[in-house]
Parts: sequence; C-alpha cells; structure tokens
Amino acid sequence: MSIAIITGASSGLGAEYARQISEKNKVDEIWVIARRIERLEALKKELSVPVRIFQMDLVNDENMERFRQTLSDEKPDVAYLIHAAGFGKIGTYQQIDRKVSMGMVRLNCEAAVDITESVIPYLRRKSRIIEIASTSAFQPFQGLNVYAASKAFLLRYSRALGVELLGTGITVTAVCPYWIKDTEFIPVAGETKSTAIRHFAFASKKKNVVAVSLFFAEKGFPVCTPGIVSSIHRVMTVLPDSVLQLIWSGLRRL
Ligand SMILES: NC(=O)c1ccc[n+]([C@@H]2O[C@H](COP(=O)([O-])OP(=O)(O)OC[C@H]3O[C@@H](n4cnc5c(N)ncnc54)[C@H](OP(=O)(O)O)[C@@H]3O)[C@@H](O)[C@H]2O)c1
Repeated sequence: MSIAIITGASSGLGAEYARQISEKNKVDEIWVIARRIERLEALKKELSVPVRIFQMDLVNDENMERFRQTLSDEKPDVAYLIHAAGFGKIGTYQQIDRKVSMGMVRLNCEAAVDITESVIPYLRRKSRIIEIASTSAFQPFQGLNVYAASKAFLLRYSRALGVELLGTGITVTAVCPYWIKDTEFIPVAGETKSTAIRHFAFASKKKNVVAVSLFFAEKGFPVCTPGIVSSIHRVMTVLPDSVLQLIWSGLRRL
C-alpha cells in the first residue's frame, strides 16, 4: 500500500496537494499532518482516497517522536513526502517579536529537516520529496528577512539532499512560488505593524502552483518556479545581492 505524507494539510497548498493527489489516484492512502484537527477532518470527508489524520505540532519533539514510532511500527511505502507547513511574517527585526522569528526558523528549517529525515527510510525508487520553499529563497529580503533566510536554507538543503540521494531513484524538488493569493499565508504574514509590502500584484493561485509543481516533481527537477514572476526572479539571481535588494526596495513601495 503506497501513501503520501503531507504536512500543512489543514489549509492552502497542503490541502490542495491532498486534493490533486487524491483526484489522480496516485496513492492508496494519504497521511495528513497539521494542528487544526477540524480542518483535517473536513478534508478527509472531501477526498475519495482514504485519509489518516495526524494532529501534530511539527516543532514539538514528543509529537515528532510519536510520529516516528508510527512509521517504525507500520513501515509504510511512502510515494510522496510533501512538506508544505510553514509560515512567514512581514516586517523588520524591530517589528517582529524575537520568539516569532525563532518560530519561523524552527518550523521552516528545523521541522523540515526533522520530518524529511524521519521519512527518508520509508521512501523507495520513484518516491518524490517536495519541499515548499519560496521565491524569497533567491535573495536577501529586508522586511521579510528571517522568512526569506529560512526559505534559502530550505532551498539549499533540498538541492544538496537531492544529490545525496542520487542513485536511489528518490528525487527532491524545492518549490519556489511567488505570492499565492488563495491561502492563509498572506493574512498570517501581514499580522504585524509593518507596511513594508502593500500590494501582492501578480499573485498566483494554489491550484496552478500545485499542478505545476507535481509535474516538475514527477520529472525529477530539483527546483520548480511555478509562475512567471518566480521564474524571472530566479534568472535575475545572476545579479549581485545588493542590486537585487535595491530593486526590492523600489518594488515594495509600489
Ligand atoms: N501563500 C504564499 O504566498 C506563499 C508563497 C511562497 C511560499 N509559500 C510557502 O508555502 C507553504 C504553504 O503555505 P500556504 O500558502 O499554504 O499557507 P497556509 O494556508 O497558511 O498553510 C500553512 C500550513 O502550515 C501548517 N502549520 C503551521 N504551523 C505548523 C506547526 N507548528 N505544525 C504543523 N503544521 C503547521 C498550518 O496548519 P495548522 O495551523 O492547522 O497547524 C497550515 O496547514 C509555506 O511553507 C509557505 O512558506 C507560500
């Protein structure tokens, strides 16, 4: 029995990955992970493929230990690991509480490594790891500093892990989207005093991001920029960071 493990499945991209994987009958069961159990239960009712719910905080060691025990007891055949849990906050270091910044690092970096390395022993040839990074991973972003740095970590981690897994048939795809308008990410990111970013022009939609990234992951691409803005941004990283930061200073005032 093959399964997909999806973190951040209670909303946004994670829930959409569960929907599209279920629609395409890609696995026999989907394991969904998040803290809001009522959302996971609603998703379970929506999907045609059987769903197993794990109400977990990914930064809680006991929760993670329990999950590792389940893996060890059941030894599932994992076809997909999709790590979509993550959050960001807009603002400078003065505008974002230190504990919130540490929380971003814990979830976006530490938990990503923890869940990935806990699941790797249960992957096999043709299994796919999908890590949701961000286009912010491509350069330093004042006003989105810790978030962007955490995603740069995830991008680098994913790429190096992909090379470490060469020869196993397992691939790792770091997905680097630009703003997505129909998830809870932007409202959560904007819960600060900052007005650093006022508009989210050219934002994409979760359906497209998920469909494009699943295609890229199937083909084994190490990086996926699911949209025109993130694709242009990736090309622009030939410029020095200081030039990119200057451009960002102008753009965010628009
Ligand atoms: N939307 C965008 O503009 C955008 C752009 C680029 C990259 N991204 C990235 O895409 C990923 C998905 O974001 P989204 O847009 O789908 O946002 P979202 O709708 O806010 O979803 C975030 C998910 O993360 C889960 N989560 C947060 N903290 C958690 C924790 N401690 N333990 C377990 N689960 C936790 C949330 O579930 P619970 O609260 O129920 O635990 C939720 O399911 C994130 O990594 C984000 O950085 C988003």
